[in-house]
Amino acid sequence: MKTAVLVYSGGLDTTVCIPLAREQYGFQRVITVTVDVGQPREDIEDAAERAKILGAEHYTVDAKAEFARDYCVPAVQANANYQGYPLSTSIARPIIAAKAAHVAEQIGEVDAFIHGCTGKGNDQFRIEYMLRTMMPRVEIIAPMREHNMTRAEEVEYARERGVPIQQSAEKIWSIDENLWGRSIEGGRLEDPSFIPPEEIFRWTRSANDAPEEPRLVELRLEQGVPVALDGQAMEPLSLIQAMNEIAGQHGVGRIDIMEDRMIGLKVRENYECPAAVALITAHRALEALVGTRDELKFKEQADRAWAELAYAGLWLDPFKETLEAFILKLQERVTGTVTLRFFKGQVAVVARESRWALYDQAMASFDDKTFDQSEMAGAVKAHGLPARLYYQLKQSR
Ligand code: ARG
Repeated sequence: MKTAVLVYSGGLDTTVCIPLAREQYGFQRVITVTVDVGQPREDIEDAAERAKILGAEHYTVDAKAEFARDYCVPAVQANANYQGYPLSTSIARPIIAAKAAHVAEQIGEVDAFIHGCTGKGNDQFRIEYMLRTMMPRVEIIAPMREHNMTRAEEVEYARERGVPIQQSAEKIWSIDENLWGRSIEGGRLEDPSFIPPEEIFRWTRSANDAPEEPRLVELRLEQGVPVALDGQAMEPLSLIQAMNEIAGQHGVGRIDIMEDRMIGLKVRENYECPAAVALITAHRALEALVGTRDELKFKEQADRAWAELAYAGLWLDPFKETLEAFILKLQERVTGTVTLRFFKGQVAVVARESRWALYDQAMASFDDKTFDQSEMAGAVKAHGLPARLYYQLKQSR
């Protein structure tokens, strides 16, 4: 029996892929795999239900804890930042594809993978790369990209075949959600001069509606891993969930940027990433306390390179491994506590401490004599010697 595994979110694109797989590609057996990386419960349940109505064999894989530990935590350690975006959608793609490949492996005799990515986005690169890397011999089909269907055509096609699709007001926006963030695109947001309406946000309050009282949170990190909130030890999954609540309530984590996609297309993106913004802010502050100036300068470059690889979905790239060797070596000292202050859409670092702090209060203090200032005279004289010679040369011509 011709069998396909469909990487299935339950949204319009991937739902339409079920009848397409049968009608256009002749698969008799369609297996849908939905990977739970922290999207809303209803989405997971709806996906399962729709798949069943359409006669697919459905699997839901709960990957939340693994996603938190092996994807979100490394993103914290690398201060994940691509053009101001903490890479929430990007880092979920490799694990989604890997889990789908895993199901295919278990089932055996799978002829093809099907995914719902369009030809304009980044996800086609990320998903296919991972599927192809894990199972190089299985064919990959992208019906949305091949058929170049518009949203209206998809809705029409779905209606004709009795495909159950939601037509709520929600659906004017294209939303992608996981533990690390929520992305909102489409509709009028495609116009960069359109101000995002309050209704697009679900995880964050507006700064106006945020509590009038600031909230202080003490975050403990060990080797660059967030391990406790206000003294309470937590696994990455529950810590991220708790942080999403706190930061979101105070209106922290809204991001509105122009983003350069992999194919070179510029798009307007809106995100809500409360935990990501808060945790990365804290992590950066702790790195600044324990790293030398040279280490921090180099770390910025490593982080940028890491973000580019993560954005491209190249999760198994050898360069990513070598970068992480450096990143993890530095993390050995990123242990300590950071106090964050949440207030009216802002998060600020208000205190930090670490036993690895490369900081000597006595030396830095204005009120201390352990550092003999008079010894500095010679070093100051030599400062900028070439620049001084150059300046004189220019004056004399
Ligand atoms: N531009 C982001 C990325 O490529 C997120 C895209 C999310 N998709 C959506 N339908 N909202 O990582």
